[in-house]
Amino acid sequence: MKTLVANWKMHVGIRESAALARAALLALRGRAHAPDVVVCPPFTALADVHKIVARSHVAVGAQDLFWEETGAFTGEISPRMVAETGAAYAIVGHSERRRLFGETDETVGKKTAAALAHRLTPVVCVGETAEERAAGRTEAVIGRQLRAAFASAALHEGSRVLIAYEPVWAIGSGHPASPQDAVAAHAFLRRVFRDEVKGGGRAREGVLYGGSVDADNAFALLREDEIDGILIGGASLNAAQFTAIVAAAGDVLEGLASRS
Ligand code: 13P
Repeated sequence: MKTLVANWKMHVGIRESAALARAALLALRGRAHAPDVVVCPPFTALADVHKIVARSHVAVGAQDLFWEETGAFTGEISPRMVAETGAAYAIVGHSERRRLFGETDETVGKKTAAALAHRLTPVVCVGETAEERAAGRTEAVIGRQLRAAFASAALHEGSRVLIAYEPVWAIGSGHPASPQDAVAAHAFLRRVFRDEVKGGGRAREGVLYGGSVDADNAFALLREDEIDGILIGGASLNAAQFTAIVAAAGDVLEGLASRS
């Protein structure tokens, strides 16, 4: 299966989120081979978007969450509140949150654990900066981020986690990682997850690529077996682009079906 996660960031309000959600439903309609789609609107639109996509193959995710369940934490949104909207996923540790809002490996770990404890599928973002890449530190950085994210997480039998490899230099830059570089990073992350995080447990992981994915490059990324899906920012805000990405995923899935 291939999973498309649309991160609408802080670009849209309730009405625009509703329109994008309807466009996502239309993009999937009538397709024999359709990817799993998760749309991540701002908190304020979660409940409305969930009503629109209920009983469809489109799921809803939050863009962040806090780790405590209730209490005096002005401005924060708890995992329970996220789940209450009908959302089933939560992005955790996006590089914008790490860079702009003081998110650390430790807070990402608390959030990942809290999401899993509330049966939300975390979409754990990791990725190196351009400087770290130039210094040959990509694996050291993303390995550290991944281990820290799951340091205190309790993975259940049926837990599903998504790991998003989002190189910081590729986000919003128009310069995605090459499929080969993404495949190498994904293989590394999957190995670390399976050998050091999951242990003998039965949790299932998917590794997504994010950073300047659009309708032109989605097919080349998605056709790689190592790439279980993509996390899309800017292109997910344009219904025509997003529809074309869904079609590209459908083509890849059709190819996979005819191979087996
Ligand atoms: P862009 O697709 O706009 O590069 O953003 C990627 C991203 O940050 C998704 O979370």
